Amino acid sequence: MIKIINSLKKEIENFSDSSTEKIEAFRLKYISKKSVINDLFLQFKDMSSEDKRNVGQPLNKLKTLAKDKLIQLSQLNHKNKNSSHPDKDLFLPPQNDTIGSVHPLRIVRNKIIKIFRDIGFSIEDGPEIENDWYNFTALNFPKNHPAREMQDTFFISKNPDKVLRTHTSNVQIRLMEKESPPMRVIIPGRVYRNETVSSKSHCFFHQVEGLYIDKKVSFKNLKETLFYFAKEMFGEDTKVRFRPSYFPFTEPSAEMDISWKNGWLEILGSGLVDPNVLKNCKIDPEEYSGFAFGMGIERIAMIKYGIDDLRLFSENDKRFLNQFRGAQ
Ligand code: DAH
Repeated sequence: MIKIINSLKKEIENFSDSSTEKIEAFRLKYISKKSVINDLFLQFKDMSSEDKRNVGQPLNKLKTLAKDKLIQLSQLNHKNKNSSHPDKDLFLPPQNDTIGSVHPLRIVRNKIIKIFRDIGFSIEDGPEIENDWYNFTALNFPKNHPAREMQDTFFISKNPDKVLRTHTSNVQIRLMEKESPPMRVIIPGRVYRNETVSSKSHCFFHQVEGLYIDKKVSFKNLKETLFYFAKEMFGEDTKVRFRPSYFPFTEPSAEMDISWKNGWLEILGSGLVDPNVLKNCKIDPEEYSGFAFGMGIERIAMIKYGIDDLRLFSENDKRFLNQFRGAQ
């Protein structure tokens, strides 16, 4: 029997075809109930104990060899199926052609964070499912006031008090309730609006909110800060322009435009925090004042990279995303 075992051992060692059919043939011949190896085990039972002593170990080794070989062949087979290159090892870390890129919204978000962090702002966040108080009422949108119509809102039908936040301004209130001034924060995050999805509007997008509360904060401080931001983000030659506007939570309010390719583009809303908002958060408006602003991350990315369709940001199309490889 030793002779047979040795010749089977050679056969198994030399077996190299990892096609699906050949692997099945291998299994039938060496591993299944009707295999030659199983046959040898049946014969083994009837052997004298002396023969058993000689044959036992080599026979068991042969069985292990066949099992290991089957695993090895199956792995090879799997690898070949999953790759046009037979020598590609799927367990290696990603090679060049599979390395991803940082999402453009993340690149812009990081840049905004860096610009404000450099001048002493810290970063905060807050919930996306929000109570009416934080999203509207405390921000000086009275119930039934037409200002609420400015933001098409997703309400949660089972609980009329809950909304998907329409802006990151909700976190202003949460912070002012929790902490006392001075405070200087920016709040990046995702927001939701009940809008038809098109190249110009989407049901979700991203904003960065800013809030600065201290003694004697003025409109001049607001302008200086946002002017500095515009230059850092869009380049030293950027000009800015403030236009009067309306937001319930700021008074006075202004929108800021930047000069871009022979024209003006709106990039954010801003203003001095309305005294009613401070009062709602138990901050004394006689002692403290502040400014706030809010900008859309998509909008800034679209301007910077010349993107004309908002939907591209969430479609996960690699042809789009790969263009940002290496961008910072
Ligand atoms: N929350 C506003 C919006 O989503 C943006 C905004 C405007 C935020 C002015 C502010 C601000 O903090 O002062 O349209």
